[in-house]
Amino acid sequence: MGEKCIQLLHFSVVLLVFYGNTPAVGVSSEDKIRCTEREKQALLQFKEDVADYDSVLSSWGSEEDKRDCCKWRGVRCNNRTGHVTKIDLSSSDLSGKISPSLLELQHLKYLNLGGNYLGGGNQIPVFIASFSRLQYLNLSGNSFLGPIPHQLGNLSNLRYLDIRSYYELDGGNIEWLSHLSLLRHLSLTHVNLSQATNWAETISSLPLLKNLRLQRCQLPNVVPPAHPFNSSLSLEVLDLSDNDLSSSIDSVLFNLSNSLVDVDLSVNRLKGLIPDSLGNMISLVKLDLSFNHKLDGGNIEWLSHLSLLRHLDLSGVNLSQASNWAETVSSLPLLKILRLRLCQLPNVVPPAHPFNSSLSLEVLDLSDNDLSSSIDNVLFNSSYSLVDVNLSFNPLKGLIPDSFGNMVSLVNLNLGWNQFEGGIPKSFSNLTHLQTLFLDFNNLTGELPEFLKGNSLQVLNLEGNKLSGAIPESIGQCSSLEELVLDDNSLNGTVTKSIGRLSKLRRLSLSQNMFSGSISCICTSMGVNLSFLDLSNNQLSGGFPDCWGRFEFLSVINLANNNLSGKLPNSMGSLKYLQALQLRNNRFHGELPPSLKNCENMIFIDLGQNRFTGKIEAWIGMHLTSLVVLSLRSNKFYGGIPENICHLNQIQVLDFSQNDLLGELPKCFNNFSSLVQNDDFKVPNIFFYWEQYNAFAARGYIYEGNALLQWKGVEREYTKNLQLLKIIDLSSNKFCGKIPKQVATLAELVSLNLSRNNLTGQIIQEIGQMKMLESLDLSGNRLSSEIPTSLARLNYLSVLDLSNNNLSGKIPSSTQLQSFNASAYSGNPRPEGRRTCAEVEVDQVEYPIPAMPVFSRAKSLPGDCLSLFLSSHLCLCHLHAHQGCTCKGVLDLSHVGCIIHLSLE
Ligand SMILES: *[C@@H]1O[C@H](CO)[C@@H](O)[C@H](O)[C@H]1NC(C)=O
Ligand SMILES: *[C@@H]1O[C@H](CO)[C@@H](O)[C@H](O)[C@H]1NC(C)=O
Ligand SMILES: *[C@@H]1O[C@H](CO)[C@@H](O)[C@H](O)[C@H]1NC(C)=O
Ligand SMILES: *[C@@H]1O[C@H](CO)[C@@H](O)[C@H](O)[C@H]1NC(C)=O
Ligand SMILES: *[C@@H]1O[C@H](CO)[C@@H](O)[C@H](O)[C@H]1NC(C)=O
Ligand SMILES: *[C@@H]1O[C@H](CO)[C@@H](O)[C@H](O)[C@H]1NC(C)=O
Ligand SMILES: *[C@@H]1O[C@H](CO)[C@@H](O)[C@H](O)[C@H]1NC(C)=O
Ligand SMILES: *[C@@H]1O[C@H](CO)[C@@H](O)[C@H](O)[C@H]1NC(C)=O
Repeated sequence: MGEKCIQLLHFSVVLLVFYGNTPAVGVSSEDKIRCTEREKQALLQFKEDVADYDSVLSSWGSEEDKRDCCKWRGVRCNNRTGHVTKIDLSSSDLSGKISPSLLELQHLKYLNLGGNYLGGGNQIPVFIASFSRLQYLNLSGNSFLGPIPHQLGNLSNLRYLDIRSYYELDGGNIEWLSHLSLLRHLSLTHVNLSQATNWAETISSLPLLKNLRLQRCQLPNVVPPAHPFNSSLSLEVLDLSDNDLSSSIDSVLFNLSNSLVDVDLSVNRLKGLIPDSLGNMISLVKLDLSFNHKLDGGNIEWLSHLSLLRHLDLSGVNLSQASNWAETVSSLPLLKILRLRLCQLPNVVPPAHPFNSSLSLEVLDLSDNDLSSSIDNVLFNSSYSLVDVNLSFNPLKGLIPDSFGNMVSLVNLNLGWNQFEGGIPKSFSNLTHLQTLFLDFNNLTGELPEFLKGNSLQVLNLEGNKLSGAIPESIGQCSSLEELVLDDNSLNGTVTKSIGRLSKLRRLSLSQNMFSGSISCICTSMGVNLSFLDLSNNQLSGGFPDCWGRFEFLSVINLANNNLSGKLPNSMGSLKYLQALQLRNNRFHGELPPSLKNCENMIFIDLGQNRFTGKIEAWIGMHLTSLVVLSLRSNKFYGGIPENICHLNQIQVLDFSQNDLLGELPKCFNNFSSLVQNDDFKVPNIFFYWEQYNAFAARGYIYEGNALLQWKGVEREYTKNLQLLKIIDLSSNKFCGKIPKQVATLAELVSLNLSRNNLTGQIIQEIGQMKMLESLDLSGNRLSSEIPTSLARLNYLSVLDLSNNNLSGKIPSSTQLQSFNASAYSGNPRPEGRRTCAEVEVDQVEYPIPAMPVFSRAKSLPGDCLSLFLSSHLCLCHLHAHQGCTCKGVLDLSHVGCIIHLSLE
């Protein structure tokens, strides 16, 4: 501070002198040109070689008024000799290469090019090693690649060296560093030091080093008993975070006791007990040992000696033995930041209060522990100073106390995923600085309080409680609100007009409540910020809003399971970034507006169970080529399927069932490439980041689309495993003609349902190529001829329905095929005069064998239970039953025509 004052003083004196001698300036200026011509030319060459988009170097030039290069931005000269001694062009958005012309600047002491884009993927230029007077070198954050030149070891005057990289710089063995004996500050963050096996010794040879940052360097382990740092080091800042160190703490920190102020060893694999000797590091102000999952904090007795500590992070360290953790922490008078997330913290036993009132804690994170006491025991007395509190993911019980209203400094409060009961305290209205409030997944009851005053609140998440009543009108005053998440409660009333006034809203999520009335309020003043709208599973009614032009960045619309009606308006075409449109189970009608073709980012469309009509238009296949899920299930679409539907090469779920579609099936199914090939690297995009088009994206939220599908004969809503389901369901239409042979190329398809159509011809011979098929329903058609033998190759098939066709002949023999419900084959002509021979393997029979033995068949379908009913036209040749499985079903042999061989072990 003293230094700054002096500089200021100096500056103002100079100014006075300058104004005092105005007439003389012109005359004496020539004498004052200090810059040497050769150095000036060198700098101009440097400027020539870089791209300077921000015109940072506009003061650099050969014009008359720019003659003195010592006055150029970022350049300083020795005021006696005129030689350039300092270049500081940090964070100037420069890119390109560093001109070797700089070599001319042999008097350079300070070179800071950090935070630019220089380097262009080349090595750090070797000529930098020739600046023998250099004391400060900063090349951090540029785009250099390849090995660091060992010649930098020539820079024996260096005090500061920062080559922190964002790319892959290769540090080699860093022995050259040992020549830099004056070094005080060294940062090699993100430099690959995996070859530097002697890094610890090399560092130890730098006697003046105070600040060492080797984050994410792939440092080789320190092998005990070697201690990396010898005792003569006076290190103050040590950052070895995010390496893969797996030794004990002792072997890393030994001997460094007294000087260390700031230690970060987070994100390693350090193991063993944290030694008591850590208590000798009495100068520590910041200690971060988080995310070393094999580290055991013991009783953290050592902590009580670190009385200067302000910032402590032991997240992920096992503290289950630290029964006095609360008292210990309370004995640290200066502590401001405490993070003990995922520490297996022992419960706080009443009446002990962990944090005594003298603490000036601001950040407290005790999330993901097993704290099950009342919150009073945890937070009592620590009220006034707290700014950020995260107690989520504990089983904390009881009421949220009124005393929360005293914590008037709170900005972020997360009490989500606990077991709190009762209402939200009225005292929350005192928390006028609150920006984020998470009370999600508790057991809270009562109405929403009028606590939503003040305009700082940005995120309100009350999902998964038992809150009831209406949303108070006062919510309209939360003018900063960006996320309002009230899903899965028992709230009712209308989606009030005041919600429509929340113009900053990005996420509005009110699903699974009992809201009723219209949703026209979203057309009030919400707009360009809205990115996620989920009002599904309510009792909303009325028409579909027609104001979509204002929601340019909307990416998810979910209105499923309501009573909404009307047509989809043309204005939907302006939703360029829409990725999911879920309108299932409403009373929408009419044709789809052709403007929907503009929504080319669409991934997920579920319009099932409405009264939509019209043809399946060609623009779907031509424009919506990112579609992964397309369900038009149970509507009134008519006409044929256009060939270009096969352009949907990302499609995984195609459901047109229960419509009035007719004609032949397209012969291009082999173009559905995500159903043809398994491409693990192109994981379907059903899970997407709803804010990805929002420039301010700060918080993330993964949206999982859900769809109602028929799977193995049961209609259900799928969310979690949707990305694994690869389904084509065209059942219950009027399709005719043969099953196109291209269907057989869908080797990744898991379920194919073509039932209840008017299909003729044979079952395609190549069906055995669909090796992932688990469910095949071809029932209710007019398929004829023999069942292809290749069907026996479908090892995963567990649901097969071929009933009600004209199939004949032998059912191919395989372990799978005979284990189906006989109804799978019923309604076909009975095989004349011969009996089909089946071989069934059964893995467990429970004793005593009842008339219908209980069995399990876990062999090829783990965890999947089947019932086995064999009808009289089948004949069992061999039945082997083994013990030792768990999954049970029913084996009904009552109708089997004959059993040739039965063995039950
Ligand atoms: C020259 O620079 C030194 C330190 O850099 C400073 O102390 C001195 O006052 C300067 N002299 C003039 C004439 O500006
Ligand atoms: C190097 O420059 C970067 C970017 O300007 C800066 O963040 C960093 O603190 C500097 N390093 C040192 C040691 O001064
Ligand atoms: C480094 O120093 C050695 C001897 O002091 C010298 O021969 C060599 O040229 C120097 N390297 C560079 C790149 O300046
Ligand atoms: C780091 O360097 C080693 C040896 O040169 C190399 O095997 C390894 O792949 C590099 N690490 C990364 C992430 O590139
Ligand atoms: C929520 O409260 C109800 C009684 O109101 C209780 O039956 C239930 O177990 C509670 N759930 C949890 C997760 O605490
Ligand atoms: C709100 O804070 C004031 C002090 O600022 C306090 O007197 C009052 O009791 C608090 N109200 C509630 C409901 O906690
Ligand atoms: C909303 O629910 C409350 C009970 O929680 C009930 O008293 C009220 O009548 C309901 N209002 C409407 C409009 O259904
Ligand atoms: C099935 O197709 C035949 C002609 O191939 C036609 O006569 C019959 O009406 C169709 N049945 C249905 C239900 O569409």
